[in-house]
Amino acid sequence: MSAVEFRELGSTGLQVSPIAMGCWPIAGVTSLGVTEAESLATLEAAVDVGVNFFDTAHCYGYEGESERLIHQALGHRRDQLVLATKGGIHWEERRQVRDASPATLRRQCELSLRRLGTDHVDLLYLHAPDPQVPLCESAGALRELWEQGKTRSVGLSNATVRQLEEFHQICPLAAYQPHYNMLQREIEVEILPWCQQQGVSVVVYWPLLKGLLAGQLPRTHLFPEGDGRKKYPMFQGEEWQRNQDLVDELRVIAVNAGRTVAELVLNWTISQPGICAALCGARHPAQIVENARGMGWRLTSGQIDAIAGALQRRGTSVSRGAVT
Ligand SMILES: NC(=O)c1ccc[n+]([C@@H]2O[C@H](COP(=O)([O-])OP(=O)(O)OC[C@H]3O[C@@H](n4cnc5c(N)ncnc54)[C@H](OP(=O)(O)O)[C@@H]3O)[C@@H](O)[C@H]2O)c1
Repeated sequence: MSAVEFRELGSTGLQVSPIAMGCWPIAGVTSLGVTEAESLATLEAAVDVGVNFFDTAHCYGYEGESERLIHQALGHRRDQLVLATKGGIHWEERRQVRDASPATLRRQCELSLRRLGTDHVDLLYLHAPDPQVPLCESAGALRELWEQGKTRSVGLSNATVRQLEEFHQICPLAAYQPHYNMLQREIEVEILPWCQQQGVSVVVYWPLLKGLLAGQLPRTHLFPEGDGRKKYPMFQGEEWQRNQDLVDELRVIAVNAGRTVAELVLNWTISQPGICAALCGARHPAQIVENARGMGWRLTSGQIDAIAGALQRRGTSVSRGAVT
């Protein structure tokens, strides 16, 4: 693998790998057949292939499994990691509930630190604004946690540009976390330019659209009961067929470039102006090893044009985010 070009997170001085590890699948809530041994091996493999940026949350796993696994696998390498977690969502009877009140954010931060076995994280996000709590109160609580040294920086996820502005005035943001991939590019209109102007790093989730853009799900794939992808329009009917047509075109470009579809898609994603890092969920070591090969090289202008052509033929897609 070529040398990883690390990127600065906001103006924190923290240097992160542009391919980052998304630690939702290892908790096994919506990914089926995940084992603890494999999750631990996946986390170790990530560091071994140059990934230093790990994204988790208070609610990743019904009992904080994701944070615990990170500590178990990588606690002894804490100084090599940039650890990001989130607060403001918890589980009630296996349903995600938003609560971003200051008291809850403070309590969840303590729980996260305990599970992660550290006295501070590098980045603490508000997972999503809570309609029941004024945003200024959530922002104020995160600012306090930052001033107390519980986190080295603060981020926001799943927000509008107005909410970003309001939050940033109360608590300076180092990062914003939206969904973004070749097929879901709404942030390019307003949010990306705002973040670029403000020096806020954009760290994106779903770069592989939950595996769809990894190019390994056959057209005839049947999602079993319990597979979290089943509910999204991108995986259904006409949308699914058109997405598979796109993947077929991407496969040709990838093969000609000596790359896999996932490597091509991830390289394209982290090359977009204003994108700092792509959070790649993985549940097997082989997946994060492949995904890490998405960094350390550059697409040629011919490949960029070929991808643009394929995306144009695909046309506008049905887009919907998620909070996980
Ligand atoms: N802030 C938020 O609200 C929010 C929301 C969603 C996600 N996130 C963060 O973003 C991360 C990424 O999202 P995600 O994990 O949901 O989706 P993702 O990264 O788009 O896709 C992950 C899934 O794709 C498949 N995959 C990954 N690499 C692959 C490869 N090389 N080849 C074939 N399949 C591959 C695996 O699924 P299978 O093996 O099951 O096919 C894996 O579980 C999360 O882990 C989390 O950290 C944040």
